[in-house]
Amino acid sequence: MASLRALVLALLMGATALAQQTTFGVGRTPTAEEIRAWDISIGPTGEELPQGKGTVREGAQLYRSKGCAGCHGASAVDGRAPILKSKAPPNADVWARGRILPLRAPHATTVWDYINRAMPLNREGTLHPDEVYSLTAYLLFINDVIKEDEVLDATTLPRVKMPIGEDYARLPEWKPKSPRLKGYPQQQQQ
Ligand code: HEC
Repeated sequence: MASLRALVLALLMGATALAQQTTFGVGRTPTAEEIRAWDISIGPTGEELPQGKGTVREGAQLYRSKGCAGCHGASAVDGRAPILKSKAPPNADVWARGRILPLRAPHATTVWDYINRAMPLNREGTLHPDEVYSLTAYLLFINDVIKEDEVLDATTLPRVKMPIGEDYARLPEWKPKSPRLKGYPQQQQQ
């Protein structure tokens, strides 16, 4: 058995070495421009954020003119797409205010990144950076995260304090032999 295992291992290692040496004649190295076009992730520090700025007021207008209201509802709680505004009062515990990205996200830059890469659905990638800043400002404002007169840009956006604070990374309480998550559907109670 041990020798069989050694044989399989040797074969696998051989295959890896072979794969590293062979070129299959497919694909090509992406150009610098292509990599730039794909490399759109914005991290918590916001260092990748583009120039531009946006306001709550412009965001409110864009929310209608860019079709967000058509799917998410005019008041952000009355559409067929997920609600974008918490129905709970601003002083309620953040975990009780709903799983809403512009409220629950650990970093405001994540909200910008999401809108920029994923919305409006079916027309992704069509928003100008100024428009993404404004829509982010509007959605943060209607969830009581920022004030109405705040201007968001590459400097101010990463400084926005999200209500969840450091709590998003809290470890669940767990004792040996207890289910990993309380009420988790697949978990049989013992
Ligand atoms: C064609 C319908 C449609 C349009 C138009 C649209 N959305 Fe969405 N949006 C969705 C759907 C569906 C989801 C849920 C996607 C998912 O969970 O995978 C979503 C998710 C979101 C989320 C994340 C919600 C969450 O809490 O997880 C945000 C933020 C958002 N949209 C903002 C916008 C903004 C801003 C616009 C306008 C620029 C917009 N959407 C336009 C359908 C739409």
